[in-house]
Amino acid sequence: MTDIELVRAAITARENAYAPYSHFAVGAALLCADGTVYGGCNIENAAYSPGNCAERTAIFRAVFDGHRDFAAIAVVGGPQGQPISELCAPCGVCRQVMREFCDPATFRILMGTSDTDYIESTLEELLPYSFRPENLGK
Ligand code: THU
Repeated sequence: MTDIELVRAAITARENAYAPYSHFAVGAALLCADGTVYGGCNIENAAYSPGNCAERTAIFRAVFDGHRDFAAIAVVGGPQGQPISELCAPCGVCRQVMREFCDPATFRILMGTSDTDYIESTLEELLPYSFRPENLGK
């Protein structure tokens, strides 16, 4: 799976976004160390706070299936029904969930508007000085 293919998978995942309140559709594609890819979309809720981001949808799907070793995630988002025109960076909660499972120095986060226009950061760059499992002796 190339980076371009991972961004494409996030764009496809975005088609399933359930965002009737924000009308902001997000897609994510998580690459596991063994090459498996999990898509995720945001899933909103009438009570608002139960809503889930695309990144966490992908990560939780993968963890449920027994994966805990992840290499990269691609994220795309923007107003529903419109072409993506701006980068969508993972929210703070999603960054913290990534920190639970991913090596911050090597886990890569791709943020793009298309499969030809994306940037890359490490988790360490997006979540410096993080609270981590090691703080609790794990
Ligand atoms: N959202 C994501 O899915 N991922 C992010 O990283 C940022 C925000 C969703 C949550 C909510 O459904 C909508 O975008 C607007 O905040």
